[in-house]
Amino acid sequence: MNQQSAPLAGNNTERWQSLDSAHHLHPFTDPKELKENAARIIESAQGIYLTDSDGKEYLDAMAGLWCVNMGYGRQELIDAAHNQIQQLPFYNAFFKTSHPPAAELGALLAEVTPAHMNHAFFTSSGSEANDTVLRVVWRYWDILGKPEKRVIISRKNAYHGSTIAASSLGGMADMHKQGGIIPNIVHVEQPYWFGKRCELGSDLDPEEFGREVAQSLADKIEELGEDRVAAFIAEPIQGAGGVIVPPDSYWTEVKKICAQYEILFVVDEVICGFGRTGHWFGSDLLDLKPDLMPMAKGMSSGYLPIGGVMVSDRVADVLVNQGGEFNHGYTYSGHPVCAAVAAANIRLMQRENIVETVRESTAPYLQKRLGELGDHPLVGEARGVGMLGAIELVEDKANYVKFNKDRRAGTICRTHCFDNGLVMRAVGDTMIISPPLVMQKSDIDVFFERAWKSLDQTHKDLKQ
Ligand SMILES: Cc1ncc(COP(=O)(O)O)c(C=O)c1O
Repeated sequence: MNQQSAPLAGNNTERWQSLDSAHHLHPFTDPKELKENAARIIESAQGIYLTDSDGKEYLDAMAGLWCVNMGYGRQELIDAAHNQIQQLPFYNAFFKTSHPPAAELGALLAEVTPAHMNHAFFTSSGSEANDTVLRVVWRYWDILGKPEKRVIISRKNAYHGSTIAASSLGGMADMHKQGGIIPNIVHVEQPYWFGKRCELGSDLDPEEFGREVAQSLADKIEELGEDRVAAFIAEPIQGAGGVIVPPDSYWTEVKKICAQYEILFVVDEVICGFGRTGHWFGSDLLDLKPDLMPMAKGMSSGYLPIGGVMVSDRVADVLVNQGGEFNHGYTYSGHPVCAAVAAANIRLMQRENIVETVRESTAPYLQKRLGELGDHPLVGEARGVGMLGAIELVEDKANYVKFNKDRRAGTICRTHCFDNGLVMRAVGDTMIISPPLVMQKSDIDVFFERAWKSLDQTHKDLKQ
């Protein structure tokens, strides 16, 4: 340890900011802009509140990064990590070995996921889970003697992670610009009604729009030829793309299309899984029948990095009984400490009936208050499902006119939120929330007051 990195007593904000600025390259950040502003240093957290290194408190309406579902400081999860790290800090799952946490977690996941999903392949993140999806999909069709089935259809503006495979599966144009996309991945329209309504500047029936967008999937399969299409991948509700809640007609149609064609259906549950929508999985809410379900984040409430892919019986049967060795895996697949914490997290969710509480009590209240934010003159639409929400900032509410990007409405609003002790994320000019599931109604009122105040301040700034 050199002198500069030795710990100091007292307030160290400036020190951490300067060390961070000198040595830490941040994800999804303009490093030059960060250097000019200095990072906010979050030092501790409890429940749904964060505390920064100057002692300022924030209501964390993003649950970290859509993940701290059971809130900060849960002793059960701390104990699970502590006990497991003493017992067996690491062992792998290669070479015909396993360990109790991985075995227990696989069984627990089989219990809480849809009935036809009973096998888990473990990873350390959602991105690795989606890399695994690609490997499994291609392997499945190879084993079945259909190696020409290679193309995976995804959606524009989807987010499936940041490795080369996951970012290719995702539909984020800015990511593709910086790394291209791997072959055999194509993207169809997203069911973003509000965006389309603003773009058109005229009325647009949501259900008709939902059907049209769904049809673009069928059209793409026809265009490519069913014999070349391996899978369709989608988030139940697009998260990082701006919490896109599709019109009801969308999933009704997409389900039919997935059933009609011989393709695998991959439902990315990295955000929607583990109670986020008021159901264990987004697939339960929407009655989807996935063949593969990548997951991460809420699996361990973000306490330790773990993810995985739940594999349906139909796919597992081919992999297990017909496939031979699957040449895929990670050193940390099913890491015992991460797996023990994930298992403790799921048991904690079950013990506290958190999914039911969200569905029956807190989510309806959050959605009600979110709807009230929709009355603000700066808000063109407030939408959400369960403990997910989006607030669209617009220049002209009556006529569905968005701000010019240069006005940076979302960034201004996010800064006011921070100043007012609230963490909301800005996706362009869409403010999004995904708070911890343990948020109480009184916390929701605090959220509403801080959000309304921040909207007022943003409105004032943008009028000048
Ligand atoms: C739907 C979805 N899939 C995959 C990922 C990637 O997960 P990770 O950041 O753990 O790699 C994310 C991350 O936000 C996500 O939202």
